[in-house]
Amino acid sequence: MIFYFSATGNSQWVASLLSERLQLPMYDFTDGQVTAEFIQERTPAECTVFVVPVHGWEVPRLMANFLRFLQEKRFHTNYIYVVFTCGDDCGLAHKKIEKLISPLSDHPLIAYSVQMPNTYILLPGFDVDDEKIQEKKLNAAPKRVNQIAAAIQQHRYVPELYEAGRFAWVKSNILNPLFVKFIKKEMKFHVTDACNGCGKCRQICPTTTIQLDAHRHPVWNNTCEQCLACIHSCPQQAIQWGNATQRKGRYLNPFTHQKR
Ligand SMILES: Cc1cc2nc3c(=O)[nH]c(=O)nc-3n(C[C@H](O)[C@H](O)[C@H](O)COP(=O)(O)O)c2cc1C
Ligand code: SF4
Ligand code: SF4
Repeated sequence: MIFYFSATGNSQWVASLLSERLQLPMYDFTDGQVTAEFIQERTPAECTVFVVPVHGWEVPRLMANFLRFLQEKRFHTNYIYVVFTCGDDCGLAHKKIEKLISPLSDHPLIAYSVQMPNTYILLPGFDVDDEKIQEKKLNAAPKRVNQIAAAIQQHRYVPELYEAGRFAWVKSNILNPLFVKFIKKEMKFHVTDACNGCGKCRQICPTTTIQLDAHRHPVWNNTCEQCLACIHSCPQQAIQWGNATQRKGRYLNPFTHQKR
C-alpha cells in the first residue's frame, strides 16, 4: 500500500502515478482515515511505499510522527520504500528515518526521489519555479516515476533514482538543525484585507493549526508544520509570511485536486 502526505499536490500526484503503476491502494495518512484498526487489519503487509515532500532535507515531522504511530501499533511490512518529491535535492533525508523505519520492516529502507516544482517561499532567495521550469519538471516526472515503479516491482535498489545533491551530509546534519531551530519555530503568517472568509485554509491544514475568528479570518496557533498548504491554496492570495511573500509566486500541482 502507499501512504502519502502532500501540502500542495506534488506528492499526491506522484503517489497516484505509483498507485496506478504498482496497483497499490493509496491513503493520505494525515486525513484521519488511517486509524489503529486500519493498521491492524493490514498487518503484515507485503510492500509499503511512503510518498512525501522533503522539508529542509528531512522528512516532514508529520511523517516521523506517523512512523512512531505505526511502531506503536506493531505494523509490519516485508518491503519498505520512501519516495520523496523535492524541488532540487533531498540530502540524506532517508538516513534520518532509518531508526524509525527498521522495526517496521524485514528489508532495509530504500529511498527514491522525484524532482517537482518548488514550493518553499519563506526565506529570501527562495521562490516558486518559473513556468518553464515547472513545465520541464512536470513533464519529466512520469518517466522518473515509471523507473521507480519498475525498481520497486523488482525490489531493486537503483542509487541513481535518489537525488541527494551536493553537500548532502552538510544539508541534512548542519543546515537542517539550524532550519528547524531558527526558521521552523517562527510564526509569521498573517492575513490581509483580501481574505473573503471562504475557510479553505482551515479546511486543508493537515494539523488543525488554523481557526477562523468572528470575521472568518484565519488565526494560526503554534502547531504549524510549515507545510505551506495554506499560503499556496488561498484563492485570494490573502495569506502572507511577514513581509517576505508579497512578491513571491504561489503554486499548486495542476493535476491534483485539493482533497480536503
Ligand atoms: C518547508 C519546506 C521545505 C522544503 N525543503 C526542501 C528541500 O530541502 N529540498 C528540496 O529540494 N525541496 C524542498 N522543498 C520543496 C518541496 O519538497 C517540493 O516542492 C515538494 O514537491 C512539495 O510537495 P507537495 O506538493 O506534495 O507538498 C521544501 C518545501 C517546503 C514547504
Ligand atoms: S483561504 Fe484565503 S480567503 Fe479563504 S479564509 Fe483563508 S485566508 Fe481567507
Ligand atoms: S498552518 Fe502550517 S501546517 Fe497548517 S497548512 Fe499552513 S503551513 Fe501547513
